[in-house]
Amino acid sequence: MRKSLIAGNWKMHATHLEAIQMVQKLSYRLEDTDYGRVDVVVCPPFTSLRSVQTVIESDHLPIHLGAQDTHWESSGAFTGAIAPPMLAKLSVTHVIVGHSERRQLFGETDAEVNKKAKAVVAAEMTPIVCVGETLEQREAGQAEATVRSQVAAGLKGLSGEQVAAIVIAYEPIWAIGTGETADPDTASAVISVIRDEVASGWGGDAAESVRILYGGSVNPGNIAAFMAKKDIDGALVGGASLDPDKFASVIRYWM
Ligand code: 13P
Repeated sequence: MRKSLIAGNWKMHATHLEAIQMVQKLSYRLEDTDYGRVDVVVCPPFTSLRSVQTVIESDHLPIHLGAQDTHWESSGAFTGAIAPPMLAKLSVTHVIVGHSERRQLFGETDAEVNKKAKAVVAAEMTPIVCVGETLEQREAGQAEATVRSQVAAGLKGLSGEQVAAIVIAYEPIWAIGTGETADPDTASAVISVIRDEVASGWGGDAAESVRILYGGSVNPGNIAAFMAKKDIDGALVGGASLDPDKFASVIRYWM
């Protein structure tokens, strides 16, 4: 049984003061039973991690703290970069790795995604490894081949046991921030392909256990249709996670 996971990726939004308010408001809208059904993760920018950690710890909130990126080295002369042990020390439990915005706007490669995923696991956190095709790749019939190769390259060198415990997010690039979502059947079909790729590289147990999320214009109105698919274990939510009312409604998708 895979527990659902819904993560909010705040991207480059919110000062630390705004972030404190966002996580507090979110917590007011969620009940203990919600956390029993869904693992809730918020991924604020680096500058808000310490403040959000403090709120979570002082109010004993069962909300997990995530980061949006990391370097793969644990220290060194890498101006501007943040190392996995620094995140772990802030009680960060999840780290988004290889988001399409990092890949497209910052030139991140599969090889770097792989180094980051391994570094996050080594620091005892959970990577949320993002994969997804562009519109051109989809139109050329390359969607499945693209995600297969991103999974194979991104998770290379991890053991079956490690892969079983990570999270993969399928985010078709054409659906991110566009208001256009993948049809739940289409998303579910690609996610089955991802699970099959995990099975062939890391074994059936890893494929059964790994949680695979959908991301791309998820909102309170469409989340239930994604969650109804047996292969979709949750969502990585951008825009709708910035509004605590909307994000709480996404998390309580069954209501
Ligand atoms: P939107 O929900 O704003 O489309 O963003 C999706 C995303 O990129 C989450 O990581």
